[in-house]
Amino acid sequence: MTDVRPAKRAFLESRFAARKDLLYFENVAKHIEHFAGSKVIVVEVGVAHGGSIEMLARLLGSQATIIGIDVRLPNIDLKFWDDLHHVEGAGKVFLIQGDSCLPSTWDALRAQFGRPDIVIDDGGHTNHQQLASMTWSILHARHLAIVEDIAASWSQRFGNPHRYSFINWIYGIYRHLNESWVLNVGNTTAARTSEAWSRISSIELFPNTVVIHLADTELPTWTVLQNNGESSQQSGDVLPSFSSRFLSPSLVANCLNRIQKVGSFQRCMWLASVALGYLRWLGNWRLGFFSSLNQTAIF
Ligand SMILES: C[S@@+](CC[C@H](N)C(=O)[O-])C[C@H]1O[C@@H](n2cnc3c(N)ncnc32)[C@H](O)[C@@H]1O
Repeated sequence: MTDVRPAKRAFLESRFAARKDLLYFENVAKHIEHFAGSKVIVVEVGVAHGGSIEMLARLLGSQATIIGIDVRLPNIDLKFWDDLHHVEGAGKVFLIQGDSCLPSTWDALRAQFGRPDIVIDDGGHTNHQQLASMTWSILHARHLAIVEDIAASWSQRFGNPHRYSFINWIYGIYRHLNESWVLNVGNTTAARTSEAWSRISSIELFPNTVVIHLADTELPTWTVLQNNGESSQQSGDVLPSFSSRFLSPSLVANCLNRIQKVGSFQRCMWLASVALGYLRWLGNWRLGFFSSLNQTAIF
């Protein structure tokens, strides 16, 4: 069977060296392939020999702009990139020498090219480097923020495992998105989370790569949309009322009947377990726990 994955084909056609896991083409590249043929702006941190920049240019086509950032740029004749664009119909490539940890690198990039659609971090892989490029990307990129070589979060070479590893930051964001939703449930006007995290529409964890999908919308993702249709008690997140859950006539009669039949020790145990269930239902302990957390801190 012919292998038709466009990203893999572009990768194999590229002249310059690069390494990608096979899974990369299954999991990650499909999100990038989606933009082929469009006026997409892609930033890749970490150019090395230029292989993955070339793959992106070949894959995305002549309307695309591919910007590579590296502290040390490869010595590639600019004519190569011009020919790739004008003769072979690949994207237009710009290479910028810069450190992805410095805000000035990102400021200059944004001033010259505007907001990128996709940012891929395949730079130095330290926690600090991955955090720096992803913090900027979550705020400024339009659609995708991708971090490669996530395995660094478990590698001693990169000072990990560590409480402040990149992957723990991702887990922290995910926890924060959900906790802030729980804290503000029912409150459709108050911000459920900070503006930055509210741009995240989903986070995909793949072996060695994390893909963050961003909502290119003026509305924060927690905005509740409501139509005026008929409401239904069958809806999954309508909780049963206290009376329907605990005080249905048949349940009460059944309980009284049982209490009369059992001995005093069993009666106490039974009442204790009912009381415990009731407290859990009230959820007081959970709300108390959540509200004691600092909502603004990620960790
Ligand atoms: C793993 S290689 C990139 C491989 C390339 N993306 C590919 O697939 O062909 C990492 C590159 O990141 C660059 N790098 C390391 N730290 C960086 C930083 N803070 N800012 C920009 N580039 C960095 C290194 O110079 C190196 O060329």
